[in-house]
Amino acid sequence: MGLDDQTRAELKLAGASWVEFNSPMSKVRAAAICGFAASAGASMLDLGCGYGKLALLAGAQHRELDVVGVDSDALAIEHGRALVVERGLEGRVRFEVGDAGVHAVPLDVAVSIGSSHAFGGTREMFASLRSLGVKGAVVGDMVWTGSASSGLKELFGELPVGSEGLAVMASEAGWVLEDASLSSMEEWDKFEGGWIEGVRRVGTIEAETFADERAEFYQEYRGIAGFGWLYLTQQVGGLEETRLGARGLQETNEPKALLVTQSNHG
Ligand SMILES: C[S@@+](CC[C@H](N)C(=O)[O-])C[C@H]1O[C@@H](n2cnc3c(N)ncnc32)[C@H](O)[C@@H]1O
Repeated sequence: MGLDDQTRAELKLAGASWVEFNSPMSKVRAAAICGFAASAGASMLDLGCGYGKLALLAGAQHRELDVVGVDSDALAIEHGRALVVERGLEGRVRFEVGDAGVHAVPLDVAVSIGSSHAFGGTREMFASLRSLGVKGAVVGDMVWTGSASSGLKELFGELPVGSEGLAVMASEAGWVLEDASLSSMEEWDKFEGGWIEGVRRVGTIEAETFADERAEFYQEYRGIAGFGWLYLTQQVGGLEETRLGARGLQETNEPKALLVTQSNHG
């Protein structure tokens, strides 16, 4: 459909604001990521945080965590800031408009979910996160999980194969792999279904057509383009090892609860 750039951007915004997270990430997985951050240190940096829902969750679940979300989209950051006030998280969660690729606040754990393009690519993201000197990182990024047609390869570009391929890139950049997994089909279907519904709710003919096109496109890549997740650590400041220690690669579709800590504060 020949949409002008502004209409396309508005419809994408409608989709993104209708879903909890702008990536195939369940609430259980999100809670596990926040738990990993809390167990690894006192502060978490979410690069390419979008509407900041993960950062807000981390701040609400782990009151001892200092959380910073960075995104280049000023509207998304404005939205996140309003939610900080609404949820009484001032002083614990803050949002900044900025470029993930050049952001260098030295916090304990860095998170990058669906944002590798902000660093110039997946390899660049791993190198850039490592150069922040953080103890740990959580990365979610596109991978191939099935045999892609040349058309899909052209659209998505070069992707690593499975979370193993993503893990190889991370270890080449010097990261220690703690855990790896893939988004489940349930996470994907919920994400895509919600995003498409958000577009449809705009209520225009353009929105309806755009939503139909996205639904059709999703059926083309469903199960072929996947989303890999890595929990990573690195030695910092001469420490023998991080608090998390090293674990082997296990390929499952379930987010790991191993590293989750319980918050007593709700
Ligand atoms: C797919 S969304 C993921 C958002 C969020 N991590 C989530 O999972 O809900 C990618 C985000 O990266 C942001 N982004 C793109 N380029 C960026 C850059 N150079 N610096 C910071 N953020 C960027 C976009 O504005 C968008 O919010």
